[in-house]
Amino acid sequence: MEKRAGRQYRCSAWRRRNLPILFLFFFFFFLVFSGAASAAGNGKTHARRINPGRNSSRSNSGFGVQLVRRGDPQRVTIDNGIVAVTFSSPDGDVIGIKYKGIDNVLETLNDDDNRGYWDVVWSKPGDQRGPFDKLRATDFRVVMQDDEQIEVSFTKKWEPSDATVPLNIDKRYILRRGSSGIYMYAVLERLEGWPDVDMDQIRVVFKLQQKLFHFMAISDDRQRVMPLAKDRITGRPLAYPEAVLLTHPSNPEFRGEVDDKYQYSCEDKDNKVHGWISEEPAVGFWMITPSDEFRVGGPIKQDLTSHVGPIVLNMFTSTHYTGKDLNTAYRNGEPWKKVLGPVFVYLNSGDTSTLWRDAKEQMHTEVKSWPYEFVNSEDYPAAHQRGSVVGQLILRDRYINERLMYAGSAYVGLAIPGDVGSWQRDAKGYQFWTQADRKGRFFIDNIRVGTYNLYAWVPGIMGDYKYSVNITIQPGSKMDLGMLVYDPPRNGPTLWEIGIPDRTAAEFHVPEAYPTLMNKLYTNHPTDSFRQYGLWSRYTDTYPRQDLVYDVGVSNFFEDWFFAHVVRSAGNNTFRATTWRINFDLPTVDKSKGDYTFQLALASAAEAEKQVRFNDLNAPEPLFSTGLIGKDNAIARHGIHGLYWLYSISVPNNQLVDGRNSIYLTQTRTHGAFYGVMYDYIRLEGPRGT
Ligand SMILES: *[C@@H]1O[C@H](CO)[C@@H](O)[C@H](O)[C@H]1NC(C)=O
Ligand SMILES: *[C@@H]1O[C@H](CO)[C@@H](O)[C@H](O)[C@H]1NC(C)=O
Ligand SMILES: *[C@@H]1O[C@H](CO)[C@@H](O)[C@H](O)[C@H]1NC(C)=O
Repeated sequence: MEKRAGRQYRCSAWRRRNLPILFLFFFFFFLVFSGAASAAGNGKTHARRINPGRNSSRSNSGFGVQLVRRGDPQRVTIDNGIVAVTFSSPDGDVIGIKYKGIDNVLETLNDDDNRGYWDVVWSKPGDQRGPFDKLRATDFRVVMQDDEQIEVSFTKKWEPSDATVPLNIDKRYILRRGSSGIYMYAVLERLEGWPDVDMDQIRVVFKLQQKLFHFMAISDDRQRVMPLAKDRITGRPLAYPEAVLLTHPSNPEFRGEVDDKYQYSCEDKDNKVHGWISEEPAVGFWMITPSDEFRVGGPIKQDLTSHVGPIVLNMFTSTHYTGKDLNTAYRNGEPWKKVLGPVFVYLNSGDTSTLWRDAKEQMHTEVKSWPYEFVNSEDYPAAHQRGSVVGQLILRDRYINERLMYAGSAYVGLAIPGDVGSWQRDAKGYQFWTQADRKGRFFIDNIRVGTYNLYAWVPGIMGDYKYSVNITIQPGSKMDLGMLVYDPPRNGPTLWEIGIPDRTAAEFHVPEAYPTLMNKLYTNHPTDSFRQYGLWSRYTDTYPRQDLVYDVGVSNFFEDWFFAHVVRSAGNNTFRATTWRINFDLPTVDKSKGDYTFQLALASAAEAEKQVRFNDLNAPEPLFSTGLIGKDNAIARHGIHGLYWLYSISVPNNQLVDGRNSIYLTQTRTHGAFYGVMYDYIRLEGPRGT
């Protein structure tokens, strides 16, 4: 497939610019061609479309679900005539998935425990980097079995003498009749008094046959033929090992491209289906996540999806794009229990050009079926055991509008009780989010029993909302909160503003990628160009002598505000602090009504300290400093945001002068090339009451 596409597009510059489209076009062409060829081979006019996701496949309708133990006590297979899934027992790893004549879609060159498995990255307090624990179970049992469904369980009870992560483990797998895939979830639990640990990452991993799966799809417009795992080994690691320049790829067309798994990250709210396609035979392997309730950090937390390997992940917890500001620490023997999943590994086949669309349809089916009624764990509540919350969020900001406004499209969610905005740092509880309609009306369904706070933020409006009352959900609760009024942070009238308050830096200037360091997927990709490697270094190229200067009223933040405030490269891997300057006119300083306010909203911070000075660059003490903040690493990981930081800074009127004023924003910490901040939004407000 790559060779075919490669031969076609080598020749013209126009084609190079349009690579992603061409990839898809030739991919499609190849599929039609190969489909026709195989159909001809079968003596049929065209390939039969098989859609085993539904109960349509006649040959399978008579096939009940079976548990098979073939002599080997360390193997268990469950089979519904469509897929047959084999586990190591009692470990509970997925070692084989048989589908459509492929004996195993997982990589058989890998050891049994390196094909389909759960793992936890954990450490004891103070240890820098902990080990991976593959959650090896010690007991196997069949939870339920009839003609329609089998659910199996691999468990382990932790003992204080164990060297493993202190967790009781219950890994579950469900195979249903007529279903073209396997459901999986894990119930993880630590009891009160167990040792203090950090659990920075919990995920499930699938490693697919390298010789089969070459095309990866993350979304409608993020799909491509991928390099091979060995291309990374023959390539050159860049500023960190995850980013590799492909110098000797098997497909020469990839030479000079950068591969980095973080270029395929996605916000959790959009991460519902991703996976890989094999061209011959035409088979898709998809990770479907029907709910976001068991993930961490709220709906815009970003995480990995699929990447070169071919690897498919489901990230339940990770410090990606948050760093250790995400609360992954368990202290003072605190107990914890969480159900991760179920998620659905879906396989499809037929006509390769339709596999992605079919996978999306299946994803919608799974989302509509949530919460699943077929899960046999008392820790997984059914729909009638859950509750709902309805209400309407209204905005009150008389500096925008004398009247109340609808909080249109607000993100509204329940998460464990905490401070305003604390949901983005929470890794322990369940979260339930929705997006309100145009009038700020929201309805959150299927909420698990528990005590929560209701949080919200509104695209286009700075700050975070928290409802002051705890929300306690009981089985069958239907709470109507009525109208909730949100007073966003505001001290006085807007004098000027930079950016759009939406928790990202996407509206600012994202520079062109280095031609020698491209991921061609993102060439001419207007919404995702920030995913290219090395854009941080473009700051020094763009502002070689003088740092960024922004003139309010003249400059345009889409063009003139660099997406990331990083340090300046001074050669030899050394860096210098940078100071951005905002110039603005204030005809007369109002001295009668108190302080002005400088609102500073950051979309990301990594090893950064932002100092703010008014009108005196050399003032020994800044008016304000954030102090050292952030570990979200979003600049290095090609995210356009990490965690959100909001500072409302009082500006005494003696800091200001009649006429021309300047604000200096200094990035003082010079640890490395991609440390710094991304701004979300900046606003200067006059004194209250003006
Ligand atoms: C598939 O078959 C099962 C049992 O025969 C049935 O309960 C289920 O509703 C069917 N699903 C669809 C999508 O037809
Ligand atoms: C809300 O719940 C939290 C956690 O359960 C508790 O600490 C807090 O006191 C409660 N707040 C109110 C106002 O009841
Ligand atoms: C960079 O470091 C090397 C070796 O440490 C030194 O020879 C060279 O002069 C340095 N270059 C600059 C620009 O400082």
